[in-house]
This record gives sequence, C-alpha cells and structure tokens, in this order.
Amino acid sequence: MTETKKSATLSLDGKTYELPIFSPTAGPDVLDIRKLYAQAGVFTYDPGFTSTASCDSTITYIDGNEGILLHRGYPIDQLASKSHYLEVCYLLLYGELPTATQLEDFETRVTRHTMVHEQMHNFFRGFRRDAHPMATLVGVVGAMSAFYHDSTDISDPWQREVAAIRLIAKLPTIAAMAYKYSIGQPFVYPRNDLDYAANFLHMCFSVPAEDYNVNPILSRAMDRIFTLHADHEQNASTSTVRLASSSGANPFACIAAGIACLWGPAHGGANQACLEMLKEIGSVDRIPEFIARAKDKNDPFRLMGFGHRVYKNTDPRAKVLKQSADEVLELLGVEDNPLLQVAKELERTALNDPYFIEKKLFPNVDFYSGIILEAMGFPTSMFTPIFALSRTVGWISQWKEMIADPQNKIGRPRQLYLGETARDYVDIEKR
Ligand code: CMC
Repeated sequence: MTETKKSATLSLDGKTYELPIFSPTAGPDVLDIRKLYAQAGVFTYDPGFTSTASCDSTITYIDGNEGILLHRGYPIDQLASKSHYLEVCYLLLYGELPTATQLEDFETRVTRHTMVHEQMHNFFRGFRRDAHPMATLVGVVGAMSAFYHDSTDISDPWQREVAAIRLIAKLPTIAAMAYKYSIGQPFVYPRNDLDYAANFLHMCFSVPAEDYNVNPILSRAMDRIFTLHADHEQNASTSTVRLASSSGANPFACIAAGIACLWGPAHGGANQACLEMLKEIGSVDRIPEFIARAKDKNDPFRLMGFGHRVYKNTDPRAKVLKQSADEVLELLGVEDNPLLQVAKELERTALNDPYFIEKKLFPNVDFYSGIILEAMGFPTSMFTPIFALSRTVGWISQWKEMIADPQNKIGRPRQLYLGETARDYVDIEKR
C-alpha cells in the first residue's frame, strides 16, 4: 500500500478533517478513515460493504467494468488455458509461479496429505444419509480441528503451512466422501498416482466392484472448474474467513465458516439454484415467462447465474466455462442437451433485454458450471461442495496473508443504532 500526497477534506460541524488517500497498484483510490471516529466522533455507514475496502491484499484483482480477473497479476483466461489447479494454488499461496522443482515439491506435499484420519469415517456415519453434502462439509471441515490438533496453533508458521496443505489436500476427499455417503456407496480412498482433478473424479465415481478409468478430457474440465473458482478477492465467504480468523480462531474453524457462507444462493449456492432454474424453465419457449418474472419488482424471482456485485460486464470465468461446456458436452455426445439450449437462449435473450442491459446484469461463473457438472454425472447438491473445495485455496491464501500482516486486528464493525434508548424494566404483571 503506498500513501500518496493526496488527501480528501471532510467538513463537519464547522471543523475540517484531512483523510489520507491510498493509491493501489490497480483500481480506485481508497480513503483512509481509520482515525475518523477518534478525531471527529462519527462512523461511516456502508451495509453490504459496497464502498469499503476491508483490508489490503496482493492476491487477486478484479476490474468489474472491464471483466478482468487477475491472480498475482496473471489473467484468469491464461491461467485456465495454460496452467492447472495445483500450480494456481502455489501461485495464490506463495505469490509467484513455481519453478519445476518447486511445483513437484508442492504437488508431492499435497498428495501426501490426501487421506483423512480413519476415525473421520465414523464421524461421517453420524450424519443422516439424506443430509445436503454442504451440511456435511461444514460439519466435517469444522471437525478437522478435532482431528488435526498439531496444526491449529496459528502463531507457529510451520503449523500454518501444514494446515494450509492439509486443507487443500483433504477437501476433495471430504467432498467425495460426503457424496458417497449421500448415495449409500462405500468411501473410496484417494489415489496419489492420479492428478488432483482425476483423483477427485475417481473418489466420486469409482466403486470397489469395478475398474474406473478417468477420462482425461473430463479431468481437464474438472481441473478448469477448480482453477476458475480458486479465488475471488474479498467476496462474502472470503470476508467471513478473514473475520473469523481475526479473532485468532484456528484455520479449520475459519474455513468451515467460509463454507457456511458460500452455501447461500446469492453466493456459491447459485450454481445449484441456476441448474434447478434451467430445469424448471425446461424449454426455450418458456424463457419469456421467466425473463418477465425476473423483471417484475413484485416477484422475488431472480435469474440465477446472472448479475454480480463487482462485474458489470461478462464474468471472465463464465466465458471460459461456456467454451468448456461445449467441449464436455461434445465429448459426451450430448451437444443437443436441452439445458444447454435453454442456457444459451436465455443468455442471448437477457443480453438483448433493456432491463438486463441497463442494470449491467451479465452471466456469472455459476451460469455454465452446473451444465458441465451435471453432464459429468454430479447431482446438483454437489455443485456447491465442488465450489467450496476449489475456493479453499483462496480462503487459505487470504487467511495466510492476513495472519502475516502486522496490522491485523480483530474485525469489529460499528452500527447505526435505531433502537430504543435506555428505558426502565417493566415488571411482567404491568405490561
Ligand atoms: N435477476 C434479475 N434482477 C437482478 C438480478 C438477477 N439475477 N441481479 C440483480 N438484479 C437487479 C436487482 O433487482 C436490482 O434492481 P433494482 O436496482 O431495480 O432494485 C439491481 O439488479 C441490482 O441488484 P442488487 O441485488 O442490488 O445487486 P447486488 O450487487 O447486491 O447483488 C447478486 C449481486 C449476485 C447477489 C445478484 O446479482 C443476484 O442475486 N444474482 C443471482 C444469484 C447469483 O447468480 N449469484 C452468484 C454470484 S457469482 C458467484 C458467487 O459470488 O458465488
């Protein structure tokens, strides 16, 4: 963060206050209001953090107007086409692309941690079979702090590193176990001879009774979905992880908090909601009816997979996924998949509709991911767990950055209180 010579002047009750301005390496300038309350006795008001930078960060940059997403400076489309998920994990965690030796060492460290404590199998068995896999995931990841005590001391850099590797390595195993549990099949142990994405598909779709060979095109598409979801700056779940961690909570508890936040339909739950919406629309001729509902102020319905707090242009991840959807469906011989036809026509209609144009509502990452995941054989309930396992590296990278920041202090927003002022207690018989 570099302080410029610039400052803003606030006039209040006949006094003036100078607010320093920070200039980022990219993006809008930021007013520093940290001393405002001490000096002027006022708070700022910004529900939903629409104008507030909650931290400084060097990990991810988004230009929502231009539809740009950079990780450590590298554009997401280049990473999606030229790199792969574990390399992107290294980049997010350590700040630079790895050398061949660094990458090999990192991949070995991750693959050596893919198994979970055997006792966790019993822990899983406490859940109902029909539990949503996200519910199971929140519980099991939270419980990791009960299984891996030796990496919960956040003041120890070695423990922090082990916790980060464990989370990245074990989340696919736990997500796959949640899936297997929900369909009544035995858990499948990880295979360290497979790459990260292929191993995940193997743990989800193989059964002990038969051989299962992962199709390399599908594992590449899976890896691309992981890569596209790896980090997204200070979104709701990442901010949740940072806020939870600001109290000094252990990393497993913080990531469980992030997973809980991600589950909501306005955030990571939108991929499930989007596919369910496409199914409900069902055919191209019903699109006008749903577009009309999305525009109706008296109807709470929204087009799932459309709109974004930051992107006021096409989400660059959606562009890559649209192409991936075509490739995967062609490979599987289902190019004429009716859901894809509905999705493409819905996108075309919305992009030409004055309501969506005026409000700058474009397809987001969740618009096409569900079509690919469904074609691969995942039920809709697994879409958000897949988002969660992909995003774990982003949460952990942001958590690491925050813990290492000497300015780190507990997050404690203030409020605009509109309730009653002090009043005397009234005995129950007098109310
Ligand atoms: N369909 C119809 N209208 C919409 C939609 C939509 N999907 N999204 C926003 N609007 C309208 C909204 O009604 C409002 O209209 P008005 O100004 O007349 O009141 C205007 O656009 C601005 O919406 P907002 O809710 O104030 O914007 P926000 O930045 O608070 O919300 C959002 C962003 C992503 C929650 C919202 O666009 C949405 O609910 N989209 C559908 C859910 C979705 O796809 N979420 C995934 C986001 S990307 C992945 C992730 O973050 O996990």
